[in-house]
Amino acid sequence: MIAVPATFAWLLIAAQSLIFGTAAFALVTRGLASDSSIDFRRRLPALWRALTLALLVISPLAFLEMACEMAQTRWWRVMPLVPEIMRETDAGRAWRWRLLAVMVLAIAAWLPIRERTAAVAMMLLTAVLMLFGSIAGHAIDFGRLSIAIYWVHQAAAGLWLGALVSLMLGCGADPCQAQWIRAATPKVAALAAASVAILTATGLFAAYQRIGWNLHLLTDAMYGRTLLWKLASFAIVILLAAHNRLRVISHLDEAASRETLLRNVAAEIVLLAVVLGWSAMLANTPPPH
Ligand code: HEM
Repeated sequence: MIAVPATFAWLLIAAQSLIFGTAAFALVTRGLASDSSIDFRRRLPALWRALTLALLVISPLAFLEMACEMAQTRWWRVMPLVPEIMRETDAGRAWRWRLLAVMVLAIAAWLPIRERTAAVAMMLLTAVLMLFGSIAGHAIDFGRLSIAIYWVHQAAAGLWLGALVSLMLGCGADPCQAQWIRAATPKVAALAAASVAILTATGLFAAYQRIGWNLHLLTDAMYGRTLLWKLASFAIVILLAAHNRLRVISHLDEAASRETLLRNVAAEIVLLAVVLGWSAMLANTPPPH
């Protein structure tokens, strides 16, 4: 397996997860009163366009980096080899489809289509991109079930991150902001709770497949140490999320509580970006044997 370098992988997962999660949240909150969700619905297309443009730039660079690693050469020397790599290697063929999916995604983000259709298209196309990520990662060594579970893990990460970012995105001027926070927060909390349960179950399954019960590998191997850092960052997000759920959410009628919630949600987003960074590094580190 030739992995995409960690920095590119991090940017790709972050952009894909955000598009997937915000599109899912747009569908989940379709029934909300339009005056409370007006800012969210107005800003969403711009976010998708920016993220798909980022994917359009990063994806070919990630492919070129991977091609350099395959050919053990530099960027300017690998260019003439690109057609051959795309034709003759499994990774190259997969990337051909992946780049095509990114182009279709970018076109869909700019098309003047109905919001619901756009959200479904964004979700489906990023789901396909996540599938390519699952097939290109370590999960391929453990069979189809592992690939499916890896995909579910990525999708759950996207749902959580997307719900949090959507909540922030929908915050415009008061009083619309207060209405939006009160209406959207229960949905964010429900999605986050389900995502945490799924991430924990699928993440522990993936970790068990890679290191088994050899717990000394958590400290002795690079893979294990990266996983520990990821779990430590995840634990901090869980503490913050639990604080929001137990202490803040029940007082959303007070302006001070709404402000605290938004501050904590912003911190959660930053911490989840760190967790995604550790995830990209994990995907780039050979599991110990
Ligand atoms: C108990 C908690 C968790 C455990 C044990 C766990 C474990 C893992 C493992 C072992 C992998 C596979 C890496 C590889 O390819 O070898 C993985 C991938 C991944 N994890 Fe987690 N994880 C957890 C929570 C999370 C959270 C909270 C997020 C983000 C919100 C997340 C996002 C991801 C993503 C996006 C990948 C795919 C990375 C890629 O393909 O580049 N995980 N995780």
